[in-house]
Amino acid sequence: MSKNENNESQIASHWKEEELIHPSNLFAKQANMSDKNIKNKFSLENFPNYFKEYSDLISWDKEWDNILDSSNPPFYNWFVGGKLNASYNCIDRHLLKYGDKPAFIWVPEEESEPDQVITYNELYKRVNEFAALLKDFCKLKSGDRVTLHMPMIPELPITMLACARIGVIHSQVFGGFSGSACGDRIIDSESKILITADSYCRNGKLLDHKVKADEAVSHANSNGTDVEKVLIWKRYQDKYSSSSSIVQGRDFFVDELLKSYEGQITEPESMNSDDPLFLMYTSGTTAKPKGIQHSTGGYLSYAAGTSKYYQDIHPEDVYWCFADIGWITGHSYIVYGPLSIAATSVMYEGVPTYPDAGRTWRIAERLNVNIFHTAPTTIRMLRKAGPDEPAKYKYNFKLMTTVGEPIEPEVWRWYYEVVGKKEAAIVDTYWQTETGGFIGTTLPGVEPMKPGSCGPGALGISPIILDENGKELPPGSGSAGNICISNPWPGRMQTIWKDPERFIDTYFAKYAIKGSKKWQDWPYVTGDGATQSSDGYFRIVGRLDDVINVAGHRLGTKELESAALTVQSVGEAAAVPAVDALKGRVPELYISLKPGYENNEKIINDVKQAITANIGPIARPSHVWVTSDLPKTGSGKIMRRVIAAISNFVDVGDTTTLANPEVVQDIQNFVQNEKKKLGEIPQDISKEVEEEIKRFGSQDN
Ligand code: WTA
Repeated sequence: MSKNENNESQIASHWKEEELIHPSNLFAKQANMSDKNIKNKFSLENFPNYFKEYSDLISWDKEWDNILDSSNPPFYNWFVGGKLNASYNCIDRHLLKYGDKPAFIWVPEEESEPDQVITYNELYKRVNEFAALLKDFCKLKSGDRVTLHMPMIPELPITMLACARIGVIHSQVFGGFSGSACGDRIIDSESKILITADSYCRNGKLLDHKVKADEAVSHANSNGTDVEKVLIWKRYQDKYSSSSSIVQGRDFFVDELLKSYEGQITEPESMNSDDPLFLMYTSGTTAKPKGIQHSTGGYLSYAAGTSKYYQDIHPEDVYWCFADIGWITGHSYIVYGPLSIAATSVMYEGVPTYPDAGRTWRIAERLNVNIFHTAPTTIRMLRKAGPDEPAKYKYNFKLMTTVGEPIEPEVWRWYYEVVGKKEAAIVDTYWQTETGGFIGTTLPGVEPMKPGSCGPGALGISPIILDENGKELPPGSGSAGNICISNPWPGRMQTIWKDPERFIDTYFAKYAIKGSKKWQDWPYVTGDGATQSSDGYFRIVGRLDDVINVAGHRLGTKELESAALTVQSVGEAAAVPAVDALKGRVPELYISLKPGYENNEKIINDVKQAITANIGPIARPSHVWVTSDLPKTGSGKIMRRVIAAISNFVDVGDTTTLANPEVVQDIQNFVQNEKKKLGEIPQDISKEVEEEIKRFGSQDN
């Protein structure tokens, strides 16, 4: 097997150190956390007791006895012996004080359509009724799994909270994913019930969504998982907006069923702290998505605590997290975190620039949003569509968040100066589906910001950077390595659903001392590369595994490749990231054909179509390159870093160890000539991005 010299222990950092910028005194004065001593209280010598501060934000039916059981690493139980209900914590306990306050303000994409304001009282009513339906009509009970495949409509959080109320584990699949991707997740979670919607609005179009439920169910059925019932929420009241027909005895309209549950109260089920609250599937290095399992007590405490101290949410704030609830950001920071601390949470159905570049800022102005939370892709898009738009609107942000991808310092500055008008503090929050909540960020009332860096570890989180041999790279070393978290924390995933072995392999095997019963011997491996400057701030340089981050969405190369291989003529496929000015990265596919097949336009379209159908439009490759052969190692593995370099016009590096070095030049000539003709030569690829491309897939070889 060849040894790749671009491994991450040798990644040098090239960027210049950015300056520190202090949030305004005005912000610090009103911040939920302005205690300069707080970091000391949360220092490792006080582990794990400092997390009591987070569990104290939650109402427990029964107080916990033991803060952490770490006797069987890396499986941990937090707040052992405690009992609680997440729906009670997000709704019931706020009713007395905040019953008439909006819990959600839902903004439809069409500007002529009115908002839906759902107060805590109303949320209570709707969640109780729907929970009654789930229990009675669907016969669901605590511990059962239910798959949700819902768009950004208010019924999505209502459904999640109704599941949580009766202890049912929800598994929400991003609405933009295809029916078959949803089907895979139904199979893995063994869900008997699918909850969906008929349609939703996106970019001025009404999209048919129920058709995906038909695909999902037939995909699951053909793999031996029988979906008994499909519940359909309607996007427009009293009107079914889908071309798909209703299957008698299987498909049901929720609004019709709900008539029988009018006014019913469903007592919240008292759950153990370590009972799972939900599953969220995410991509990894194999084709099969991983069901990330989150607990009730640990997760909810962590979501509440980070929402309070890092999002700085006060009950009187209007908070808008511009993410999709189909991703972890929406779970933790549209639903569970904000609601557990009685926020008003804004949900928007559509795209940021519909119908024009001012839309986002009009919503912010009209609703008096003062906390704004989004991803670099959206920021880049808004900046491109209307760099001067924010100045035209009179909103006042006190805090803004960026999440999901590394943000370029110049994009950060536009966010700070133009969107935040130099008044809003920014938190660049680094985390993952697996971590439940933020793990790297500045504490906005206490710590200064630095463009392009997330900051130090979040309260109680102790990140370290390890090289390939497990040696710690000290702050200021100038090299990047694997960023790991050395200690457990309550928001961390419990395991991969039904696959504890894979959990250990993926997140711990690299550095753990196997057999050890000490948590200190089990650092959590994020899979990201990072560097730490001498002031302790981390800068995330991107994934070290075979994951492509497209506009903040994680796509596994193997998932893309397996989808391409469903096209009959395709013999081999390799997916690589190409740098994109807006989305960060987009996938490009390289394929070679089986003997006897001729290259033609149809094959290229079939591959694009197969990927869209198997995963969803976000995964659609920008190019499919058909080549006679792909560069391989002596052991026959495709060297993705070589073709990634070609796609991005960076140096292909040493190819002498390849089994077939002669193909490289041919592929390079072909692909780069085509790209030149299309005017697609990437501009200004920074050194750090170049390093990322050069090491892409290097873990594989
Ligand atoms: C990346 C999203 C740089 C990282 C919450 C991580 C980031 C992956 C940041 C997780 C950030 C997330 N700066 N990169 N602030 N936040 N990432 O599971 O590569 O969808 O591993 O969770 O996004 O993506 P996921």
